[in-house]
Amino acid sequence: MDVDKIRQDFPMLRGIKMQGKPLIYFDNAATSLKPQCVLDAILDYYRNFNANSHRGDYDIAHHVDVLFEETREKIAGFINANANEIVFTANTSMGLNMVAYGLMPKIKEGDEILLSEAEHASNLLPWFKVAEEKKAIIRYIPLTKEGRLTVENLKKSLSPRTKIVSLAHVSNVLGYILDVKSFAKEIHKTQALFVVDGAQSVPHMKIDVQDLDCDFLCFSGHKMLAPTGIGVLYGKYDLLCDMEPLMSGGGMNTHFNMCGKVGLQNPPLRFEAGTPNIEGVVGFYAAIDYLNAIGMENIDKRERALKKYAIQELQQCENVILYNKESESGIVTFNIKGVFSQDAGSYFNSKGICVRTGLHCAKILTDFLKTDGTVRASFAFYNTEAEIDTFVEACRNGGNFLDAFFDDK
Ligand code: ALA
Repeated sequence: MDVDKIRQDFPMLRGIKMQGKPLIYFDNAATSLKPQCVLDAILDYYRNFNANSHRGDYDIAHHVDVLFEETREKIAGFINANANEIVFTANTSMGLNMVAYGLMPKIKEGDEILLSEAEHASNLLPWFKVAEEKKAIIRYIPLTKEGRLTVENLKKSLSPRTKIVSLAHVSNVLGYILDVKSFAKEIHKTQALFVVDGAQSVPHMKIDVQDLDCDFLCFSGHKMLAPTGIGVLYGKYDLLCDMEPLMSGGGMNTHFNMCGKVGLQNPPLRFEAGTPNIEGVVGFYAAIDYLNAIGMENIDKRERALKKYAIQELQQCENVILYNKESESGIVTFNIKGVFSQDAGSYFNSKGICVRTGLHCAKILTDFLKTDGTVRASFAFYNTEAEIDTFVEACRNGGNFLDAFFDDK
C-alpha cells in the first residue's frame, strides 16, 4: 500500500495544523477523514443534478434515482448481501433503534434479550426501552477478564427464553473482534435472532453477511470515508418483510385512505420514509469505490500492523497502562499513569494529536475496566508509523504531563 500517495487524497492530511503542529488524526473510530473524491461527488450532486429521489419524472431526478439504487447495489456487493436487504439509515444508532422497535411486537413478557457489558449506548439503550415496554429481561453474556466474548459464555447464557442477541462485531473501546460466524451458529440453534453492531467492523475488514449469517447488521457511512448522516441497516429479506417500520410517511407506503388504512412498500423502501440523505448516498458511492480500489483485506492488514507497532512501542513506556494489548483491530486504549484521561486528551491536543478520551459511550465497560475513563487512539490505513512515533514520544513525556504541556508548547 502506497500510504504517501493515499495521504495525498485526503485534504485534511495535506498540511493542516493543530496547535501549530502537523495534524495527527487518531480518532478514526469516532469518524474517518474524507478523501477528495467523496467531497467532489457531494459537490457534483448539488452543482449538477440536485433533485429529490424516487419522486420526480424529469431527467435529473431520474439520474438521482439511478445513482441512489446503484449505491444500494454497491453497498450490497460490499457486504455480499442482496440490494433489497440494504436499508439506508442516518447512522448505526438509527439502524439499531429501527431493529429494536421493529421487533418489539414479537417480544413477550419474560423473554430475554442478551447483550454484553462492552456494548456502546446505541446497542443498549434501545433494548432497555424494549425490555421496559414489554417486561422482557436484559441479560449480559459474561466477559472474560480481558473483556472478550467467547462462544462458551454465549452457550451458558442462551436459554429457551432468549429472543434477541445483540452484540458489537468490534468493541469501540477494546477493539476485540467477535467471532460472529460461530456466535450465529450457536444462536441459530435456538429461536433467537442475532443483531450485529458493525460500526467498528465494516469500515475496517472484509464483511460477508452470508458467510457470517447474522440476521441484522448496522453500520455508519461516516466511519468509512462517507459523509455523516448516512448509514445502513442490513437485514435478511424475510426478516425485514416481517418487521414494523419505525417511521411512517412519504415513500414507504403504497396507498392510504381517509379511514387510516395504509399499505406498505416492500423492504427496503418500507423503512425509508421521507426525503433521504441524498448527498450522503452519493458520497457513500464514492467512498465504497475508494475502499474497494485499495481492498478491504489490505486495509485490515495495514491497520493491524499499525496497532501492533503502536503496542510494541507503548510497552516500552513505563508510564502507560494498556487495556487491550491483545486485541486484533486498530484501536489502542490506555491511560497515562496518574493523569485523568481528559487532561491527557488536552495534552495530546497540544501536540497536534486527536484522540478520544472518557467513557466512549460505553459506560458499563468503563466500570468493568475499573477506571473512570481511558484514552483511545484509533488508526486508519492512512496513518503512519512516523505519526505513531510522535504519539509514543508524547506518551513518554505525558507522565509529567503538566511540565510537558507547558515546556513543549
Ligand atoms: N461511536 C463512536 C465512537 O466510539 C462515536 O467514538
